Amino acid sequence: MKPAILVTRAIFPEVLTKLEQYFEVESNQDDIIFAPTELAARLKGKAGTLATASARINAELLQQVPGLKMIASMAVGYDNIDVSACTAHGVMASNTPEVLNETTADFGWALLMATARRVTESEHWLRAGHWTKWRYDSFLGADVHGATLGIIGMGRIGQAIARRSTGFDMKVVYHNRSRISAEQEAYANNAQYVSKEELLQQADHVVLVLPYSAASHHTIGATELKMMKPGATLVNLARGGIVDDQALIAVLREKRIAAAGLDVFENEPKFHPDFLSLSNVVLTPHIASASEATRRAMANRAADNLIAGLTEGKPRDWLNPPA
Ligand code: DGY
Repeated sequence: MKPAILVTRAIFPEVLTKLEQYFEVESNQDDIIFAPTELAARLKGKAGTLATASARINAELLQQVPGLKMIASMAVGYDNIDVSACTAHGVMASNTPEVLNETTADFGWALLMATARRVTESEHWLRAGHWTKWRYDSFLGADVHGATLGIIGMGRIGQAIARRSTGFDMKVVYHNRSRISAEQEAYANNAQYVSKEELLQQADHVVLVLPYSAASHHTIGATELKMMKPGATLVNLARGGIVDDQALIAVLREKRIAAAGLDVFENEPKFHPDFLSLSNVVLTPHIASASEATRRAMANRAADNLIAGLTEGKPRDWLNPPA
């Protein structure tokens, strides 16, 4: 008999077909978001699950599903998974690193450019029928070329964003839990390691790509926003909760910084309604990794992890291998 698994959310049909070769698959192509009790009920009797970042995997859930052996998440960020609790319950956990680095870096630039050059704001204005004449001072934005780019979180995605800045003749400063190697700094447009405070004081454009954890909660709050240059921009590609959204709304309203570009929000898919009343913020629905090829690659990588985990006991992207 094949082991049973749950695919918690809608997924590419060919990925389901692949999984069906190895498992009895309960899928959710209607894409219903399961409440925690529903998720626990559906995971009973399952050996594994292919989940997304919307599934909260914690000790409370794991206690209810003693037969579960593996959770394969289709995301690089895994703040939704209590990895220590997985280890304590003997559950393998995996994520999908690497495959989304370049696509996410592309989107970081899309958001940075749209934010600095007021792309969505001016488009909304045009669509609303306000464009009757050209003016010398219409939608004046901030230059990107020649500016200083500040990256907080210099992992693989941060480095890919920095590398792209060579074409814009930018200076790159970064802050990270630890300094990256000299080779990595050279690759990342000769990025210079600075403190968070120095970065906020120097950067014209700040991009956040660090993982979310209790330690990174509100990395950018009222104090940090005050340190930013007037006229600077802020882009968050990482996770909601890294920025204090309420504090950001206050500085955007006062135009203390020029603008922000946000792909992630505290409590998403809900978000603070005041963002909608601000013209100096670009809002996108957590789509940084959403190219056709990359989302397929992420889904396949998660499926391959689940197959390797449940058939060989060794997923490629194992987050909690034995010490
Ligand atoms: C990731 O992979 O972490 C993306 O943010 C999608 O959740």
